[in-house]
Amino acid sequence: MTAPTISTEGLRELLQQGAPVTVLDVRPAAERAEWAIPGSLHADAYDVLRRGDPTALADFRPTNGNRVVTVCAAGKTSMLAAERLRARGLDAVSLEGGMRAWSLAWNTAEVPCPGSTARIVQLRRTGKGCLSYLIGSSGDAAVVDASLDPQIYHRVADEHGWRIRTVLETHVHADHLSRARALAADTGARLCLPTTDRVSFEYAPLKDGDIMRVGSAGLRALHTPGHTPESTSYLLDDRALFTGDTLFLGAVGRPDLEATTDESRGRAHVLHASLRRLVALPPETVVLPAHTSEPVAFDGRPISATLGEVQERTSLLRETEEAFVSQILARLPPTPPNHHRIVALNEAGKLPVDPTELEAGANRCAVA
Ligand SMILES: [Fe+2]
Repeated sequence: MTAPTISTEGLRELLQQGAPVTVLDVRPAAERAEWAIPGSLHADAYDVLRRGDPTALADFRPTNGNRVVTVCAAGKTSMLAAERLRARGLDAVSLEGGMRAWSLAWNTAEVPCPGSTARIVQLRRTGKGCLSYLIGSSGDAAVVDASLDPQIYHRVADEHGWRIRTVLETHVHADHLSRARALAADTGARLCLPTTDRVSFEYAPLKDGDIMRVGSAGLRALHTPGHTPESTSYLLDDRALFTGDTLFLGAVGRPDLEATTDESRGRAHVLHASLRRLVALPPETVVLPAHTSEPVAFDGRPISATLGEVQERTSLLRETEEAFVSQILARLPPTPPNHHRIVALNEAGKLPVDPTELEAGANRCAVA
């Protein structure tokens, strides 16, 4: 017997609609700790399922109706789990491709931005925590840090009656493959990057102080190096700040990727100066980073905070330059998986046919 499967897009839609379904994760606890589907239950049943133990999942009870979606790393053990639950009369299906495929699942939230003529939609890759943004004003739109299939940005822009005219990156990313170049090619939009000689494709270079129009709104480039030399933040109508991986909601960017120990120290000093510049903006400025460290729930709530709140939460922002540098270098998390290959592809502007293998796992761009 083979259980039916559900695609990532199918499960994504069920969760987005709030449909009754229980998601059951059967991976070993250590794998689940790395990343998981928000709201999912866990049964540490990987080994017993592989062994064909008839008592596997005998105690499991769905918590939300009769429908169950089983999940594992790549969609094989979850199939065994779904078969076992179906034998008990449950409407169980297996997530096709497992967590690897789920890496591409996404949801959206509208970000209130009082005082701006623009509307902002936050597009979240729920598994990896990559956050990208569609900014719309007077029928035009810009996309910041595209990390999802270009079709998804088209679809959301269409729903709002916007046409994507500008595609922006805050920096050369190390933990996801950029879809910016593909999106710009698809739409004929202008591809804008902070000025850098790192990339080997054509783009419109931005420098500190440049202003891009999005309909009747304005986006100002603020060069905020440190996480990477080219890292740039974008300030929308003096109200919302797209910080990339320079500043998160309770953490700052790591300065060590693709850098020697000495370079990391130098970058940490530079990052301190960049952050001083950002925290001098009005405290009510809405901070919109490029990543979050938690899987993103299907709750329609934006992942954002005011600059004042971010300052309160982030002790590193209150340190002297020397203390900031020594603390940040002491607290560096493990490097993101595959980051050398991801950076090389992003610098070349290339996207493999199946990005999920390279991108598997949570992002690790922050230091708290
Ligand atoms: Fe980054």
